[in-house]
Amino acid sequence: MRKIPRLNLHSDINKKYFGKDFHWGISTSALQTEGAFDQDGKGLSTWDVFVEKRGKILNNHSHKTAADFYNLYKTDIEIIASLNIPNFRFSISWSRIFPNGIGKVNQKGVDFYNRIIDLCIEKNIEPWITLYHWDLPNELEKKGGWANREIVNWFEEYVAFCCQKFKDRIKYWMVLNEPMVFTGSGYYLGVHAPGKKGLKHFLPAVHHAVLCQANGQKIIKSIQATASVGSTFSCSYISAFSNSKKNLAAVKRSDALVNRLFIEPALGLGYPIADLPFLKQIENYMKPGDEELMKADFDFIGIQNYTREVVKHKFYVPYIKAKPIPANKRKVFHTSMNWEVYPEGIYEMIKQFDKYDGIKKIIITENGAAFPDSIENEKVNDSQRVHFISNYLEQVLKAKKEGLKIDGYFVWSLTDNFEWAEGYHPRFGLVHIDFETQKRTIKESGVWYKTFLSNQ
Ligand code: GAL
Repeated sequence: MRKIPRLNLHSDINKKYFGKDFHWGISTSALQTEGAFDQDGKGLSTWDVFVEKRGKILNNHSHKTAADFYNLYKTDIEIIASLNIPNFRFSISWSRIFPNGIGKVNQKGVDFYNRIIDLCIEKNIEPWITLYHWDLPNELEKKGGWANREIVNWFEEYVAFCCQKFKDRIKYWMVLNEPMVFTGSGYYLGVHAPGKKGLKHFLPAVHHAVLCQANGQKIIKSIQATASVGSTFSCSYISAFSNSKKNLAAVKRSDALVNRLFIEPALGLGYPIADLPFLKQIENYMKPGDEELMKADFDFIGIQNYTREVVKHKFYVPYIKAKPIPANKRKVFHTSMNWEVYPEGIYEMIKQFDKYDGIKKIIITENGAAFPDSIENEKVNDSQRVHFISNYLEQVLKAKKEGLKIDGYFVWSLTDNFEWAEGYHPRFGLVHIDFETQKRTIKESGVWYKTFLSNQ
């Protein structure tokens, strides 16, 4: 097994090397933490429906209570303040604001986000909002969801409303969270809500997400010219299982799908059809003038990195003809998600994104790890997570020292939470949650991050 080198608090990873303006933060999302799925007038989201289908979520867990952030937000924001974390990234639940997706507003939902924002500001924490982190109002899914082009209008109404309401206190916006994952897992593989499968759902969903990503950026800027607007992208460095010609070609195709599909149209480069020919079919969903509508002028790009993939050519895998080899099969050090711990990958991805013209700033909006944490004597000794974060940060620092446009780092996540199809099993938090009692326990990694952030 590949070992992570042990680092301690006296290792040479120090906040001061990243510079005074570097953004340090912590990330969460609404569906994974809020619970209260039907409290105070919230409408159903696609996930509220999806978790009811047996066998979709590990152990048939449901996010309906999650970390009860809806009711315990004060405690959690106080924890963020106590850990000296200056930036808090969270998402808005669309169906809490618009129970039907469009039309009637749920004022209690608006009040909830006002309370969060106000408390952050009172505690000197900068709130960063993600507008869409995978929880589509179910009423919109009934009309086809992301596969219906009408979503561009629905999303515009929602984005414009949030921006108008919160612009007096919000400076940083992210339009979408990881569109590759919510379209791929939700509309191709069927393993995330809404559970749809096949290219006929996936390709229109991709195209409409690209249009929404760009339109969202433009809408926010038109309402709030001073805002800093980004969007977030999942990315994993991809290596070949061996250097055979076929495996190297499989890497190229996988990279086009995993790392390039959403950023390149935003930058005016179109879809990476040359390296992934089946994407040509996306043109069936395009209208004249769409190339222009796909472009976005982001102030920053959020990249979210956890692992790398090692792929092999596989003829029988439809379209992509490549297959990732799971970390346990490769016998490499991995987390509870069976994701290889590969710190160099974050550096490679920063470098890859930095090469594009038109990217002004890169922020790591998510990085973190799930390990099997347990409470002993009121403490959680999660030194593996401390080592994970420090090792990845060393690679971020390497990128920074080379002059790449890296400008911030957010840990995923504040608390243990509902990890989508994996339920509550993987624990990503710097804060442990007992999901029976909702008791919070700050892990050793939380204390480590606090100490790290307290360095001048
Ligand atoms: C990201 C996602 C988060 C979180 C994290 C860990 O893909 O944005 O919601 O689940 O992965 O798996």
